[in-house]
Amino acid sequence: MKALTWHGNHDVRVDTVPDPKVEQPTDAIIKVTSSGICGSDLHLYEVLGAFIDEGDILGHEPMGIVEEVGAEVTDIAPGDRVVIPFNISCGHCYTCEKGLQSQCETTQVHEYGTGASLLGYTKLYGQVAGGQAEYLRVPQAQYGPIKVPDGPPDDRFVYLSDVLPTAWQAVEYANVPEGETVLVLGLGPIGEMATRVAQHRGAGRVIGVDLVPERLARAQAHGVDAFDLEYHDDLPGAVRELTGGRGPISVIDAVGMEAHGAPIGRMAHKLAGLLPDAIAQQVMQTAGIDRLSALHMAIELVQRGGTVSLSGVYGGAASPMPLLQMFDKQITVRMGQANVKRWIEEIMPLLSGEEDPLGVDDLTTHRWPLEKAPEAYSMFQKKEDGAIKVVLKP
Ligand SMILES: NC(=O)c1ccc[n+]([C@@H]2O[C@H](COP(=O)([O-])OP(=O)(O)OC[C@H]3O[C@@H](n4cnc5c(N)ncnc54)[C@H](O)[C@@H]3O)[C@@H](O)[C@H]2O)c1
Ligand SMILES: [Zn+2]
Ligand SMILES: [Zn+2]
Repeated sequence: MKALTWHGNHDVRVDTVPDPKVEQPTDAIIKVTSSGICGSDLHLYEVLGAFIDEGDILGHEPMGIVEEVGAEVTDIAPGDRVVIPFNISCGHCYTCEKGLQSQCETTQVHEYGTGASLLGYTKLYGQVAGGQAEYLRVPQAQYGPIKVPDGPPDDRFVYLSDVLPTAWQAVEYANVPEGETVLVLGLGPIGEMATRVAQHRGAGRVIGVDLVPERLARAQAHGVDAFDLEYHDDLPGAVRELTGGRGPISVIDAVGMEAHGAPIGRMAHKLAGLLPDAIAQQVMQTAGIDRLSALHMAIELVQRGGTVSLSGVYGGAASPMPLLQMFDKQITVRMGQANVKRWIEEIMPLLSGEEDPLGVDDLTTHRWPLEKAPEAYSMFQKKEDGAIKVVLKP
């Protein structure tokens, strides 16, 4: 089959690789019909190369049609249309039963001390072949796959794999009281969807911050008060003016470790990309390599006693945090990978009607064939051609 594979920093290619097979009785094989490219894939493209081997297949936002199932997979059958969650979880362990599927004890990666395995996401997360490919082996398929109805186009459902539950959890963890203000840093797919979920779930005012004009314009068109980071010398001041002098009660960081405006972190990222793997792994696991400007901005912006909800991914083991300010402002911080299956029951009804209250139908900006995936990565990374969400069609 054809698959998008990693070959080095800023070097991904479409290769011919062996077809996946059922290896465990809990596996399924799906024929992939849509597969998103995510901001998280850009970390692999740029920073996390030390944990990837040449030839690893990327991608963690797939959906498709079931081809084959293992003996213990009884809830889905060949021909079913399914979306595959990005975290691989068993559904029956201690953490899964608590709704913490991204911590699944069955698929945790003990070698690196990390949580649940993820599709297509480095040795840190189990080095499982990903879904930007014609076919995908789905581990723990007795629990993971989400059955969706035939009829509507893939766009309606594909975001159940990651964007929707991640944005949902971001808003849930932000703990926004009815009618109050939430500010979302970063208006990529995750941030933009978080603004829509927050509106849907009763936030009074939603403020968004980014520096890409078309992303700001899209948010604005959805009723978000959009702030251009480049334009404001004193963003916290401008935001406080809008929020009775106190700042928003909740802030969501949907940026992550490649934040704009962090020159030292940018250098660390470049270095980590150039070092031999063994040394780069050491640097990542012991040093602070994150570009922290967004996270520090979130802490600065949030109201005293408010909540910062972190869905942007950070990867440094010792990234410096402003503890004095965090303690003094009495801030609550919640974070983590989305527990995908936990939120599906709440989200699914919003996808079934005609109305499309979260606007999933117009989130995709580019639908490209798998062959063009290398160009798609480059375009998405450089934010060219209005790219916000690229979905590959194998
Ligand atoms: N927690 C999870 O389960 C989970 C799931 C998916 C994605 N993520 C993470 O969420 C983050 C966003 O993902 P995405 O797909 O939307 O990616 P993206 O790269 O498209 O979006 C990031 C946005 O942040 C903006 N930005 C950069 N620096 C900024 C700053 N200092 N202030 C405000 N905005 C800034 C960028 O212009 C961009 O629009 C990534 O870190 C990704 O890894 C987390
Ligand atoms: Zn993703
Ligand atoms: Zn589990």
